[in-house]
Amino acid sequence: MTDEINPLPQTTAAPPGGGVAWPGHSHWGADALERALRAAGPRLRQPLVVTDPLVWRAVGPTVQAALGAVPGLSWQVYDGVVPNPTLAQVREALHTARHLGCGSLIAVGGGSAIDVAKVVLAGLAGGLEVEELQAPRGLAWLAAPATPQDALLLAVPTTSGTGSESSSAALIQGDDGRKHLYRSLRTRPAIVALQPSLTLGLPPRPTAHGGFDAVLHALGSWVNTDPSPVGKALALHALRICLPALPAVLSQPDSLQARADMQMGAYLAGVAIGLNKVDAVHGLCTPLEARMHLTHAEVLAPVFSVVARHTVQTHARPYADAARALGMANTGDALRDALALIEAVEALAGLGGIATRFADLRLSAHEAGELATQALQSASTPLNPRPLAHEDIRSLYLQMAHPGVSP
Ligand SMILES: [Fe+2]
Repeated sequence: MTDEINPLPQTTAAPPGGGVAWPGHSHWGADALERALRAAGPRLRQPLVVTDPLVWRAVGPTVQAALGAVPGLSWQVYDGVVPNPTLAQVREALHTARHLGCGSLIAVGGGSAIDVAKVVLAGLAGGLEVEELQAPRGLAWLAAPATPQDALLLAVPTTSGTGSESSSAALIQGDDGRKHLYRSLRTRPAIVALQPSLTLGLPPRPTAHGGFDAVLHALGSWVNTDPSPVGKALALHALRICLPALPAVLSQPDSLQARADMQMGAYLAGVAIGLNKVDAVHGLCTPLEARMHLTHAEVLAPVFSVVARHTVQTHARPYADAARALGMANTGDALRDALALIEAVEALAGLGGIATRFADLRLSAHEAGELATQALQSASTPLNPRPLAHEDIRSLYLQMAHPGVSP
């Protein structure tokens, strides 16, 4: 018997390759902010806190106390972020940071504050004007890997849902009124503080809507065709946390355990979508959001109901696998198990007061076709377990507008 290693055999087909760009360091728990600030060390140089006025009124004293405990630290505050932020806030915050000589950023708030801070970081660290971020020089900076010399972005989420604290995307409304997606691993927060107490003041509606968004991030990342095993593991675990956490946080909004679970579930789902993206539910949601005065979750729920039920007719397996792994159903019939999971997600929407049918969506066949064209531009739509051609998507939109009509 010999311990010699055999010569490497010639293989005919290699399995698909991949890689993981791990997210930044995260700290969770009662003193997460304090530990995150300590971990930032000298990179926390004259930080600019990017936040919105309502959030700052609620959590500002806690954050200021933590900042005040860092020896020798001075900081500035920009509290001009608004929901659905525009480039105007990015320019204002970037100007403030430069004018005051800030060398790092702390985003305090929900997806809006963190998204603004991400784009400000690109301007600050890249020495770029906002307009340049869509031009070759800016795009090259955004596409390059992060370096230790880049300015630090520390995210302190006060909502649980968007996953912006752990994702590489920032959604900002441009000067043309359209929403632009800035995607860059370089602007993903290098440090995240998940302190559940900072989400205690979140009112019931954003709590429900954010939680439902997180559930669909986790589910979309799990069922889609992206093969990243790391993303899949995180997506399934995020689902395992989010499904019970959402009803818990709605029934016990003062429970720190429920808030902590929802926060961690949303964070993990954000990491998963950063690795795997989502599915056609989000892909078909974005074009509709631009024409409806509804929140993200209010568009997601009816789109989910139609798209997921269409998908499982031929591709029930990933949904059924999740239902079985989570102990929700195991009848031996993939479609039945998949439908049990879909019904559970629809029930969660109902629990959060989110309708699963559009009350007033009127679409002509032509308009549905235009929406389908836009939906196909999403990087997530082609990853849907059941492939969707333009004609399929057009039919699904019409079904959303006219429930009961078969696609
Ligand atoms: Fe979402």
